Amino acid sequence: MIIAIDGPAASGKGTLARRIAAHFGFGYLDTGLLYRAVARDVAAAGGDLSDEQAAAAMARTLDPASLDDEALRGAKAGEAASMVARHPQVRQALLEYQRAFASRPPGAVLDGRDIGTVVCPDAAVKLFVTAAVEVRARRRFTELGAKDPGVRFEDVLEELRQRDARDMARADAPMRQADDAILLDTTDLDIEAAFETAVGLIKRKISQ
Ligand code: DC
Repeated sequence: MIIAIDGPAASGKGTLARRIAAHFGFGYLDTGLLYRAVARDVAAAGGDLSDEQAAAAMARTLDPASLDDEALRGAKAGEAASMVARHPQVRQALLEYQRAFASRPPGAVLDGRDIGTVVCPDAAVKLFVTAAVEVRARRRFTELGAKDPGVRFEDVLEELRQRDARDMARADAPMRQADDAILLDTTDLDIEAAFETAVGLIKRKISQ
């Protein structure tokens, strides 16, 4: 069984997806890490993130073992990922790995931007997790500010707005709520409440 979880940056979908996977005993793939790793590898080779051929070559030879890398977690890595994610050849190269992961028994939870629309259009359950951009920025700011007191809320908010715009505007597999996805707005929910709500929605959907 496949559970697809899409949504914008800092919506809490990653934490939610990981907990849902643990709850159901399923595998979990953070697909954003794939794009982050491709951007890391392009930069490490001295390439340009706007060069589709260079990025696609890195995507084709990506080593899944290299995803467990603390350097991929930061905001800069997310920004760079969003740039290589615009290239159709990069998306194509990463598709097979994502689909193979999704089909592993007993089930898998994948989170990203295009899981319900492109990667796993037949997923048993699709959630689109979002929250008001100011609330997402506030959460991200609190997280980053704990490590770096120099971080400014306005900058975090602006970066999120730009990333949302880029991820929604790209021609190939833009971020979009699938027609059959359930919307989960976490603006007024903490992580515990969001998790309980998500599990309830998933159980209801499966029993239909
Ligand atoms: O989920 P994340 O913030 O780690 O994703 C980083 C970027 O990667 C995101 O801004 C766009 C891209 N991405 C994508 O295009 N498709 C996905 N399924 C996952 C991420």
